[in-house]
Amino acid sequence: MLSAMEHLFTIFLIVCIASSAMGATTIFNVMNYGAVGNGRTDDSQAFSRAWTAACQAQTSSSIPTVYIPQKRTFFLSPLQFSGPCKSSRIYFLVSGNLIAPIKTAWSGNHFDSWLLFYGIDGLVMKGKGVIDGRGSSWWPPKPCFNDPAHGMIFRRCNGLRLDGFTKINGPGTHILIMACNDALVSNLRIIAPGDSPNTDAINIASSKGVQIRNSFIATGIIIHVGDDCIAITAGSSDISVSGITCGPGHGISIGSLGSGGSDVVENVRVRNCTLKGTITGVRIKTLQGGKGYARNISFEGIKFIAVDNPIQIEQFYCPLKVNCQNDTSSAVAISDVLFSTISGTSIAENVINLSCSQSVGCTNIRLDRVYITSTVPGKKVYANCFNAHGKATRTKPAIKCLQP
Ligand SMILES: *[C@@H]1O[C@H](CO)[C@@H](O)[C@H](O)[C@H]1NC(C)=O
Ligand SMILES: *[C@@H]1O[C@H](CO)[C@@H](O)[C@H](O)[C@H]1NC(C)=O
Ligand SMILES: *[C@@H]1O[C@H](CO)[C@@H](O)[C@H](O)[C@H]1NC(C)=O
Ligand SMILES: *[C@@H]1O[C@H](CO)[C@@H](O)[C@H](O)[C@H]1NC(C)=O
Repeated sequence: MLSAMEHLFTIFLIVCIASSAMGATTIFNVMNYGAVGNGRTDDSQAFSRAWTAACQAQTSSSIPTVYIPQKRTFFLSPLQFSGPCKSSRIYFLVSGNLIAPIKTAWSGNHFDSWLLFYGIDGLVMKGKGVIDGRGSSWWPPKPCFNDPAHGMIFRRCNGLRLDGFTKINGPGTHILIMACNDALVSNLRIIAPGDSPNTDAINIASSKGVQIRNSFIATGIIIHVGDDCIAITAGSSDISVSGITCGPGHGISIGSLGSGGSDVVENVRVRNCTLKGTITGVRIKTLQGGKGYARNISFEGIKFIAVDNPIQIEQFYCPLKVNCQNDTSSAVAISDVLFSTISGTSIAENVINLSCSQSVGCTNIRLDRVYITSTVPGKKVYANCFNAHGKATRTKPAIKCLQP
């Protein structure tokens, strides 16, 4: 038995550890709001109550923290966590695991996502827990374009921080960051089986100032379906991606763009990433007949290991080759794109494919120090190039339509 004094000392220690790691916090433990954590009982109401209490907390010197204790698994029905909250920072500490119902057991008001975080500023979601979307019940036997529900959506937020947790088996996109400013995502593991369709790991849409760092991503590899490790889509700017290991999956993509009114993506920097066994490497894809632009985009320090289509710019994107628009009069303009210090191997022969539209074309496309070889020693590789303009230096294979 510990004495009262020892108890006090233990509590003091715990508080000190919590404080030194994250600043002073006020804990809202989901267990105190009725959560069971046995992986079967629906804990979503308990989570809602804990969230509401934390979000409404007026704490001047400590940060309200929704605490999900370790060594337990919490079953959550589709759930929405909404802001604004009273505190300018709020922690969501995922030490334990979260699990979704299978598709047929989904109930709730909204069906586009499992966990929706809406209108919250200063949300910090971190911890070592595993978040399991149980997506296999959603995955259709054949590729389809009706995105199923998303795993987690962070919508309308400022100052979002995601760190440390593992997200597996998303029903659709694992993590969608939409209409957010200033987000930092780091040290995540995102994993879905290779035969899972439409499981983009991280999708950034209509957001500004997003950094994705040091994360491991492995997703599906069904050809022609969007299973990107990272997809940066319309309305996004000032995006930085670094230290990502991706594969299997579809690599790191800008787009597809051009299905909206006027799609814009600009100021994107992708650095220090390794793509291993992916269907595509780094690419920019736009549909025919779209409007808008993608510009000031750089891919630097990329390593390819047995990637199928390492470098692609495509202004004719039509993934399933059905109902493709056949509009040559307009396209999303692509300009100021740099591929630099890139090396590695491909299982394909056509390792660089710059396919730009007749009407718009791509301008100021630059490649420097790009060396891609075949996984088969001695096998020739080549670049395909149509209506792309710019410069290629210290690059192999040679690219005919760019200046040396
Ligand atoms: C590059 O990425 C690796 C992880 O893939 C990381 O360990 C390393 O620190 C990164 N280096 C830089 C300069 O970003
Ligand atoms: C291009 O994007 C980078 C960020 O990746 C930014 O620092 C730079 O200012 C942008 N350049 C222009 C001309 O907007
Ligand atoms: C697209 O339009 C061009 C010109 O009108 C035509 O030659 C071509 O056959 C069309 N392609 C398809 C797939 O409809
Ligand atoms: C390059 O991409 C275009 C557009 O998707 C495609 O039509 C063409 O077949 C590709 N070229 C090669 C050589 O793979």
